Amino acid sequence: MSDITVQTLTSEVTIFPSQSDLPDDEKNLCIEARAAMKYSYSPYSNFRVGAAVLLDDGTIVQGSNQENAAYGPTNCAERSAMFTIGSMGKQDQIRKIAVIARPASDMNTPVPLEKEVSGSPCGICRQVMKEYESLGGQKWVILIIQNSDRVFRIEGVDILLPFAFGPNSL
Ligand code: THU
Repeated sequence: MSDITVQTLTSEVTIFPSQSDLPDDEKNLCIEARAAMKYSYSPYSNFRVGAAVLLDDGTIVQGSNQENAAYGPTNCAERSAMFTIGSMGKQDQIRKIAVIARPASDMNTPVPLEKEVSGSPCGICRQVMKEYESLGGQKWVILIIQNSDRVFRIEGVDILLPFAFGPNSL
């Protein structure tokens, strides 16, 4: 019998205590993500999500979650933003994305402390991020805005989606 090996993956996440500790472009991206929650259509979950995506020419594209009475057609904030960019033919120009979530009742109220990763992208969004990142050929910066404006800063979609199925898998 051949040897079985165990490989341990390490995931580097930098935690900023506040948005204001980030470099200016990323601080601004967090502000844009927060502003994007304004157009969240979330009457069923009462959970607003906002995303802001930075392109390499400095353009910022916002997205918010768009729900539906049939539930299934709901689009997450991240995919709203990413597909807007895809529709512009600029999938390969994405460099950074910021995501935030808040209860619909009050966008300025942080979610309860135990919900640590409230702005964390869902699995489907991670899959779309993986695909678009591979088109651009460089790692994205992902900013997950948490309670009290703490920010998880991640470099590369691989951290969020290891062993991903991607264009090279076909
Ligand atoms: N949602 C997002 O917009 N992004 C995510 O990555 C997670 C979930 C939305 C979908 C739905 O409108 C609400 O949050 C509750 O799941």
